[in-house]
Amino acid sequence: MFDFSLMGQRLGGPSGISELMDDLGHALAQGGPDVKMLGGGQPAHIEPIDARWRERFREMLENRDEFDRAVGNYDPPRGNPGFIDALAGLLRREFGWDIGSDHIAVTAGGQTAFFFLFHLLAGEMPDGRLKKILLPLVPEYIGYANQSVRNEMFRAHPPRIEWIGDHEFKYRVDFDTLEVADDIAAICVSRPTNPTGNVLTDEEIEKLAVIASQHGIPLIIDNAYGAPFPNIIFTDTKPIWHEHLILTLSLSKLGLPGTRTGIIVAHPKITAAIANMSAVVGLSNPNVGQAMVRPMLESGEILSLSNDVVRPYYLNKSRFAQHCVKDAFGDRFPYRIHRSEGALFLWLWFPDLPIKSKELYERLKKRGVLIISGHYFFFGLEGRDSWSHQHECLRMTFTMPEQVVADGIRIIAEEVEMAWRSSGNV
Ligand SMILES: Cc1ncc(COP(=O)(O)O)c(C=O)c1O
Repeated sequence: MFDFSLMGQRLGGPSGISELMDDLGHALAQGGPDVKMLGGGQPAHIEPIDARWRERFREMLENRDEFDRAVGNYDPPRGNPGFIDALAGLLRREFGWDIGSDHIAVTAGGQTAFFFLFHLLAGEMPDGRLKKILLPLVPEYIGYANQSVRNEMFRAHPPRIEWIGDHEFKYRVDFDTLEVADDIAAICVSRPTNPTGNVLTDEEIEKLAVIASQHGIPLIIDNAYGAPFPNIIFTDTKPIWHEHLILTLSLSKLGLPGTRTGIIVAHPKITAAIANMSAVVGLSNPNVGQAMVRPMLESGEILSLSNDVVRPYYLNKSRFAQHCVKDAFGDRFPYRIHRSEGALFLWLWFPDLPIKSKELYERLKKRGVLIISGHYFFFGLEGRDSWSHQHECLRMTFTMPEQVVADGIRIIAEEVEMAWRSSGNV
């Protein structure tokens, strides 16, 4: 009955991320207690962290002025000035970055930060050229894939695959073949990477930053899981920032996804534009997360919570899941785990898997195990449809209780073995 615009069709039509979230949400709602939910990106409820948020909320309620301002006021579109000053202070104090409040803008979650950044930098330019975002390594975060309001926005570069031992591997940026063409507006990576748990090394980041500045374009580093908070990074890395870098942060994986708080740290020209976009799209941003966290930025507690509670919690979860995989998979079929260097996921690769990962997902779903088929995370690859690796991987979240993770992995092993047996190749 009603016609939709091209933009309406792109954003309002079905997309990988909306189908996936819907599928997972319904399966969870209807699946009952037996569903093994290894699919979503939901952070764990870590009791000491949840307790700290409850305590902060009580403090805010008791200090009436703080609560009334948080829920009863519109903040400026750039974000709450007290929060921004506190964050700039922390970044100067702890890392020596030359950052003032004009280098920071708040958004309604990290997802919105990316929508704004991609459209600020890429798309149709004043001279009519179309610019794209370069992903120097895929698989990459599926949440970027459908954000473009017009044409395809991403050009992705396949990685170099490094085999480690019998059952591990790691993706590396393939600098030998990486090309930054004239139509590239920015380079973007998530670090740690969703879905793989890869953490690009300091050298890789430094090299990308040099390439970006040589081309006069920014390097966007998505720190949704990264430094300085929530710092779900298991390798030794150094947080960096300078004016050619755009860092995004989020309070979500610190246990506050419901507050929808994203942060951009960038050149003032970028943050001013983001603040203007926030005003147009949403007037101002959600205040509550900023109010809860502000004193913890001032005291530095946000870093100790990240380093002493959040990171070790997920490191243990990752180790447990890897142990279960080794135990359950044994030598039953070929598999490799991406080296787990951060974030909330294990990325499993089944070389030469006789069925596509989407089919494996369907079979697992029938058995009550929800994972995400890896093919969703390979987007922006021009002319690489025949790359079978895209259909041989899956992402599983390891944040659930141990029994759920162990049972889920046991069932994954059974289904993969079954696929091999029915292909007659085992
Ligand atoms: C890599 C990555 N970036 C950004 C986001 C967006 O998170 P939020 O909008 O909750 O800040 C996510 C969410 O899971 C993510 O995994």
